[in-house]
Amino acid sequence: SIDLSTLTKQTGYTALDYGFVNTSATKSAITYIDGEKGVLRYRGYAIEDVAANSSFLEVAWLLIYGELPTPAELAAFDERVRRHTLLHEDLKRFFDSLPHNAHPMSVLSSAVSALSTYYGDSLDPHDPEQVEISTIRLLAKLPVIAAYAHKKSVGQAFLYPDNSLSFVDNFLRLNFGTMAEPYQVNPVLSTALERLLILHEDHEQNASTSTVRLVGSTEANMFASISAGINALSGPLHGGANESVLTMLGRIRDSGESVERFVERVKNKEDGIKLMGFGHRVYKSYDPRAKLVKESADAVLADLGISDPLLDIARELEQIALDDDYFKERRLYPNVDFYTGVIYKAMGFPTRMFTVLFAIGRLPGWIAHWREMNSDPQTKIGRPQQLYIGSAARDWPQR
Ligand code: ACO
Repeated sequence: SIDLSTLTKQTGYTALDYGFVNTSATKSAITYIDGEKGVLRYRGYAIEDVAANSSFLEVAWLLIYGELPTPAELAAFDERVRRHTLLHEDLKRFFDSLPHNAHPMSVLSSAVSALSTYYGDSLDPHDPEQVEISTIRLLAKLPVIAAYAHKKSVGQAFLYPDNSLSFVDNFLRLNFGTMAEPYQVNPVLSTALERLLILHEDHEQNASTSTVRLVGSTEANMFASISAGINALSGPLHGGANESVLTMLGRIRDSGESVERFVERVKNKEDGIKLMGFGHRVYKSYDPRAKLVKESADAVLADLGISDPLLDIARELEQIALDDDYFKERRLYPNVDFYTGVIYKAMGFPTRMFTVLFAIGRLPGWIAHWREMNSDPQTKIGRPQQLYIGSAARDWPQR
């Protein structure tokens, strides 16, 4: 690889690289992807092993601190996160000022941005203790904010976190419990959700992580950087794809259009439609996460005794696309988002919560990258170049 920043200084040349397809903006030791072979590793561990053997918080520790925690370290970390789940009562009233039909992703990013107004004592990116407490606060409070965004959208009262429950069980109770009756966590849902969150924990320099790093490179605080990442994730070409997949599957079902006909329209690029949940900037073979998610979809729906016609449509779409030259030539395969929506729907989450679940999953990765960037002496403020194509200098008109 060429160090373009040195080359630019020496020669004055810049490379035009739409979408940063060919530009490394940083070195990183967190996640490895081989898009040709469909390989994903967190800190060197294969995603298949991580997903089968770990918990969400253990993986968060691995990503953030670089090694697997000892049992004592993990217990202390878990305990610390549990102790920080409460939201300030004033922050809870912040939700009242937003419209009831607000998209939960907008609520989430606004509330995370608002966290910096409550924690002025932990905004200094150069103070390791402040970085540490912001890390814990975000891990503890983001799921609570996410659940309150859900509760607000369905018009139900917010519950206080129950810190005797695990990270994932607490989150499920905050979403589906009510004041009226005790909530019994279904272990099938809990295990499946934990697995999905683990699969989303990091994916190197994707658009939202790059956003977190770019904002963080200005020495903006961690809450501001993560809030920016949540906004980047919300777009349908990125995390918002999980919501778009379910909308697409629902439209196919409701229109009565055959799956073959829909795929033809995608291939003809009619109205710019895409097969949502297909294709990836880096993976040019099957996304290894999508394989694991597909297994989970089968298991969860079977366990819950649900047969969802949308899953049948998804399977049919996948089969037709994998056999079709348009998709083969462009090496388009299902990505992590293709089957997640079907599972989230079976769990009872409304479609508009799907990308919020992605954000909770991705949080440890964002934090790990923010901290890696922040402790790298070579970090500079992110400032891309442009090739100016506008007018040459001209005289201001006499009027
Ligand atoms: N359906 C149909 N055609 C597609 C799709 C798709 N999902 N994805 C790419 N293509 C086509 C493009 O139209 C283009 O065709 P052309 O050569 O005839 O012009 C070719 O494949 C190459 O596509 P690019 O847009 O150049 O690929 P890029 O790497 O820029 O985009 C992206 C990657 C954004 C993920 C794209 O595949 C896409 O839009 N997919 C659907 C949205 C989606 O699922 N996003 C989630 C990504 S994973 C994540 O963020 C968690």
